[in-house]
Amino acid sequence: HTEMEKAKITHHQSHCLALAYPTQGHINPMLQFSKRLEQKGVKVTLVTTKSICKTIHFGCLTSIPITFETISDGYDEGGLEDVESIQAYLESFRLVGSQTLMELLKKISRSGFPVDCIVYDAFLPWALDVGKKFGLKGAVFFTQSCAVGTILYHIHKGLLKVPLLESEILLPGLPSLEPSDMPSYVYDLESYPAVFKLLVDQFSNINEADWILCNTYYELEKEVVDWMMKIWPLRTIGPSIPSTYLDKRLEDDKEYGFSIFNPNVDACIKWLNERSKGSVVYVSFGSLAVLDVEQMEELAWGLKKSNCHFLWVVRKSQEAKLPKGFLDETSEKGLVVSWCPQMEVLAHKAIGCFITHCGWNSTLEALSLGVAMVAMPQWTDQSTNAKYIMDVWKLGIKAPTNEKGIVKREAIEYCIREIMEGERGKEKIFNADRWRILAKKAVDEGGSSDMNIEEFVTKLNLIKA
Ligand code: UDX
Repeated sequence: HTEMEKAKITHHQSHCLALAYPTQGHINPMLQFSKRLEQKGVKVTLVTTKSICKTIHFGCLTSIPITFETISDGYDEGGLEDVESIQAYLESFRLVGSQTLMELLKKISRSGFPVDCIVYDAFLPWALDVGKKFGLKGAVFFTQSCAVGTILYHIHKGLLKVPLLESEILLPGLPSLEPSDMPSYVYDLESYPAVFKLLVDQFSNINEADWILCNTYYELEKEVVDWMMKIWPLRTIGPSIPSTYLDKRLEDDKEYGFSIFNPNVDACIKWLNERSKGSVVYVSFGSLAVLDVEQMEELAWGLKKSNCHFLWVVRKSQEAKLPKGFLDETSEKGLVVSWCPQMEVLAHKAIGCFITHCGWNSTLEALSLGVAMVAMPQWTDQSTNAKYIMDVWKLGIKAPTNEKGIVKREAIEYCIREIMEGERGKEKIFNADRWRILAKKAVDEGGSSDMNIEEFVTKLNLIKA
């Protein structure tokens, strides 16, 4: 270590290794949480896999004072194209990941500033076993809502049988749910058995974790958080969104967070700056969801029919599904980009509503930046998030599907008009703003999430002392 590095080390007290599951929707919240820990004086080493690092857009990380390290999932050379099945990938990640995590911990230890605690994504329970071998503390980090966590916990314990038999699901702290409100794996066990196992296994060794952290905020999920806190030392630490956006200090230096894809920042913001307040429909389905050709067409023509301005993120891999002639016909009204700086977009005053797949990060970002939503859930936890958006938090509507599960263009147009023009829209926008204020309060000094992070850091420092 240089003298400067040593000075920095003494300034920090504890050292956390934050291990993220290697996808956009998991690395970003872990990175944002790491930044909050750093702000409170903890040193953080953020770790993900070598294979995903090949695709990371590093420009977004230059302003972040966090150390990066990698471990291996067994696919370093060929990358993720070589993965034969999800099951094979997860198995390889568990074996090779455990081994390379041990090596990394030894390497860090030799550097003179050993790790005190592993903060690990709930998808990687084996990281806790590795940490315990080294005598470290362990904090599991959930990147889904507490409601979804509770559903999966009940399945794990055998308290909720799958495939579901009942038509109304009643669980503590949750509203009455229909089967279609459940995470997709619960009613569609066959499609992705390895993912279902991954989700349920999040709870396999949870009783050995020293902390259970959830990327949500207390005010948002009070009932279910209260219930979970009866069984576990659960703490809410979210929303994992930089204060620059929550405070709408948009003229400040930007923090784009982590991105797998390269965002068209200037093009998006310049275009939004030219639009009037609340006039733009923002459309994005996150980093993984794949719409089929028919759904893409219906969405495209629905946007056109609405006659609103729109900013639509269509990832490179999905571009060929855009209907012929669509870009030319809508060039006056719309901007289609392959990736955008989503937090900055949602915080922009031109945005009037968000057509979303309801991934947990997108949901939290819209809630925290006060944007009303049109929910078009695709799979995994998104149907449960959509139920909450519509019926619990009441800041959005769920787009109706036909018998084939497609949202037709008329439905798209109707939902956009409801939010942008209707009386119902005014109520949703009002509620969205309420959630924004509560989100900001939660992470501001003395707020519920801030206090929980403070408590976590204090306890870590006490152990260290
Ligand atoms: C996945 C799952 O789908 C989600 O349900 C789960 O809870 C977490 O992991 P993903 O599908 O990618 O993630 O969606 P989401 O959780 O919404 O995360 C997407 C992230 O990418 C958000 O943080 C969003 O801000 C960011 N994003 C998206 C961009 O930065 N630019 C874009 O153009 C689109």
